[in-house]
Amino acid sequence: MEHKKGREGFSSGIAAFFATLGSAVGLGNIWKFPYVVGANGGAAFLLVYFICIIFIGLPVMISEFYMGRKTRKNVMGALEILTPKRKWKSIGLISMLGSYFIVFFYSSVGGWVYSYVFKTIKGDFNQVTSQSAQEEFGRTIIGPISPIVWQFIVVTVVSLILVLGVKNGIERITKTLMPILFILILICDIKALTLPGVNESFKFLFKVDFSMLSGSAILMAMGLAFFKLSLGMGCMMTYGSYFTKKDNMMGTAAKVAISDTIVSLLVGIAVFSAVFSFGMKPSSGPGLLFMTVPMVFSKLPFGTLLLLAFFILASIAATTAMTSMCEVVIAYYSEQRGMSRKKAVFLNAVIILGIGIFATLSADDNSLLGKFTVFHMRVFDLFDFISSNILLPLGGILIAIFVGYVIPKCDIKKELSNEGNLKLDKLIDTYYIILRYVTPVLVFIVFLSSLGLM
Ligand code: PHE
Repeated sequence: MEHKKGREGFSSGIAAFFATLGSAVGLGNIWKFPYVVGANGGAAFLLVYFICIIFIGLPVMISEFYMGRKTRKNVMGALEILTPKRKWKSIGLISMLGSYFIVFFYSSVGGWVYSYVFKTIKGDFNQVTSQSAQEEFGRTIIGPISPIVWQFIVVTVVSLILVLGVKNGIERITKTLMPILFILILICDIKALTLPGVNESFKFLFKVDFSMLSGSAILMAMGLAFFKLSLGMGCMMTYGSYFTKKDNMMGTAAKVAISDTIVSLLVGIAVFSAVFSFGMKPSSGPGLLFMTVPMVFSKLPFGTLLLLAFFILASIAATTAMTSMCEVVIAYYSEQRGMSRKKAVFLNAVIILGIGIFATLSADDNSLLGKFTVFHMRVFDLFDFISSNILLPLGGILIAIFVGYVIPKCDIKKELSNEGNLKLDKLIDTYYIILRYVTPVLVFIVFLSSLGLM
């Protein structure tokens, strides 16, 4: 490290774990994963998901960690060091574009989540009915001024974290907020255990029903493994570049994947216990988060406090995930372009707000730009499609092929085993075989299916 004087990094393995988990845990755990599990066969789907984690998620994550820590550089710098061939630089470009396109719309949703914390405190959900919940959500996303203001607030918060740097910003915040997030989830779960709907929620999430497991569910599990673990867009590469040379990267990857899934399931138990207690049907997406949850939680004793806990935890999840997306480009601006960190963070915020506003103003049919479509999609959905369905899988497949076929195996072995200090020979061999022969094929299938070609 001596030759890269002054480059910051995480101070310990625990710090690396919390930061990486902070990236993985996001809105996906709250509005997507629990429902997808329940709707597609419960434990049967979980089994498939774990298989996807083993064959897609972990191999790509470990490869990104490898590229980052080996070079201790941002995505572009890493590729420059690893190969003289310019064409592989496309991985860096795809990564940065991927992070931007996600953060453009993710920051809108982050804004809605923040605004719900505020609304809960204000008492807006005290006597909420299904109609008023719907109206409130409509007002929140259509605006047009308030969603832009909330997006600005979210981007400002994320920028403040980032400007503090890797240790004082990302590390300190994730190390503080991740345990708080976990405690808030437990509070919601303890409450859930007292509700009449708790049994049904367990049945929904953990039944073993292979008959509900369709082909599309399997494809969904593959795509989910990607998005959930923030793969294919350089997040894990950038964070990996901050790991210490002593960290066990394979161990961290496994711990993050498992903890992330546990978080999703705990959220699922809390939310669906309340949903079933009021005889409602489970659902997913913004409707679940912004309409059903306020409605059912606010009807419970201490409901407002519970709702507050819930939206604070959702805000934490959105904030730490967004921080990781932004760090990909900030590391690039400051290392490759020679900008100061402050300037890089500022430029990044300006870009997100300048383009993200188009996502914010097109989130709903009735939004200001709601009628304007490109390829039959509103800008908001277009950004989501470009990032989740094109750039992420494309980035992932290139990373798998690059590390699997271009990097010499002995280099990978040396880095993953910390120069032989960790006895991981068998695991590394298994990882390498999967990375070469299984992961690219599976990611390719995800890619085709997300383009609607399968
Ligand atoms: N993993 C995050 C979630 O589940 C989303 C994310 C994707 C974060 C890509 C960073 C990069 O919400």
